[in-house]
Amino acid sequence: MNLPDLQEAKKRSNAKPTIKDALNLKSSKFKGQKFFLKTYGCQMNVHDSEEIKGILNNLNLTETLNLNEADVIVLNTCAIRENAHDKVFGFLGRIKHLKREKPNLIVCVGGCMPQQTSVAKLLQEKYPFVNIVFGTHNINKLGEMLLNVNEKQNIEVYSIEGDVYENIDYKRDSKYSAWVNIMYGCDKFCTYCIVPYTRGKQRSRLMADILKEITNLKLDGYKEITLLGQNVNAYGKDLSEGYDFANLLEEVAKIGIPRIRFVTSHPWDFTPEMLNVIAKYPNIMPYIHLPLQSGSTKILRLMGRRYTKEEYLDLYNRIKETIPGCSITTDIIVGFPNETEEDFNETLDVVKKCVFDGAYTFIYSPREGTPAALIKDNIPLEIKEKRLQTLNNIINEHSLKHNEEYLNKIVKVLITGPSEKGENKVCGYTETMKLVNVIAPNSTIGEIVNVKITEAKSFSLDGEIVIFENIC
Ligand code: SAH
Ligand code: SF4
Ligand code: F3S
Repeated sequence: MNLPDLQEAKKRSNAKPTIKDALNLKSSKFKGQKFFLKTYGCQMNVHDSEEIKGILNNLNLTETLNLNEADVIVLNTCAIRENAHDKVFGFLGRIKHLKREKPNLIVCVGGCMPQQTSVAKLLQEKYPFVNIVFGTHNINKLGEMLLNVNEKQNIEVYSIEGDVYENIDYKRDSKYSAWVNIMYGCDKFCTYCIVPYTRGKQRSRLMADILKEITNLKLDGYKEITLLGQNVNAYGKDLSEGYDFANLLEEVAKIGIPRIRFVTSHPWDFTPEMLNVIAKYPNIMPYIHLPLQSGSTKILRLMGRRYTKEEYLDLYNRIKETIPGCSITTDIIVGFPNETEEDFNETLDVVKKCVFDGAYTFIYSPREGTPAALIKDNIPLEIKEKRLQTLNNIINEHSLKHNEEYLNKIVKVLITGPSEKGENKVCGYTETMKLVNVIAPNSTIGEIVNVKITEAKSFSLDGEIVIFENIC
């Protein structure tokens, strides 16, 4: 039994991360049994779930998408906003009923939520039917915990700085597009954000290990990789190896994988060299997710974001100048404590100047243990909702405007799977990260194809395959 401690999680040392080999434990204990896995949260959690699936497969469990069929249920949770938290507890209510009918069912809750002391305690006190509680630092031990499971609840959540595991047996969701962690954790401590506590200190992987993983993915036929981290462009700062994100990107580009993406970049960590490398290599996609959070310098300061409105706009313009055709998306929070109408108008001003390709917008949600949670949340909910609505209307308008620029153009699309928009359709993404539904056979899945755009909507494009004929 080990409970997390948010005060411990806040600590940072200069120590370099310890690199360990993943356990990749194999057993036939669960042969013939099935697992159901539900993932909440960001891309990092989606990729962690690929690790969890690898662990469960190694124990001979197979995946089911039907909750009622499961022998083992794993919830990989997110703590970023209160609604993520509510969804998990809602789902646990459903599972409680299932467990009554099926007492041998094994229930596991992992990820970012149990890293919060209050959540771990709540699970301990009110949810005794949850067998295993694990955190973000010991996903690798889930196999061992499952092999030792008994009727007593086992909570193992650590608030340590975290290790870096190599040679993880991922069970990847796609055969064409792969996530690659380049770093774990975050040291930015934006005042509203729980991530530096739930994910620990920034730990970059060694460049040689990342390049080895990507080279193997290329050999396996992957067409696209996305470099992952809460703060990818701070890569290397914790290593003192003499290389940074620009150097890493350049080396990754040279491997020759057709498409390279990365999320998420912090405006404060962008260097001119990074922009030059992105511009230089055609296989680094012209797409940057650049969270703004607020357009008001006053609010940005309260958020601890380390840039002003003007600095953000300057970076935005430099990106557009250096990387022609680069699409830029963002994250924005409305209703941060003390956000006045003028502050909100500053955000709208940046949005109108930048005309983002898209944006994820959120109402501020106080997170226990963060500095912002101590500031009185003095904006009424109806004002927050109104601001969100005003913002979303403009964002959607801009998004449609960008999409309309694609009409009748021919673009390259990596087809990733069948489309939800019809049986004869598949879907995929342009180089600039626009979702396209394409009339084409399933045999195109995994291929990069030329598509002529026939219709533009706010959140997606429609198109048809273009086959170039040789004209002699
Ligand atoms: N590391 C990334 C993203 C982290 S979480 C970055 O630095 O931008 C994704 C987004 O969730 C954030 O960009 C922010 O817009 C939002 N977010 C984080 N904490 C939040 C909170 N307490 N309330 C509302 N939105 C939040
Ligand atoms: Fe959170 Fe800020 Fe770190 Fe992003 S950079 S994960 S918003 S603390
Ligand atoms: Fe959520 Fe944890 Fe990601 S809090 S956003 S799953 S890092």
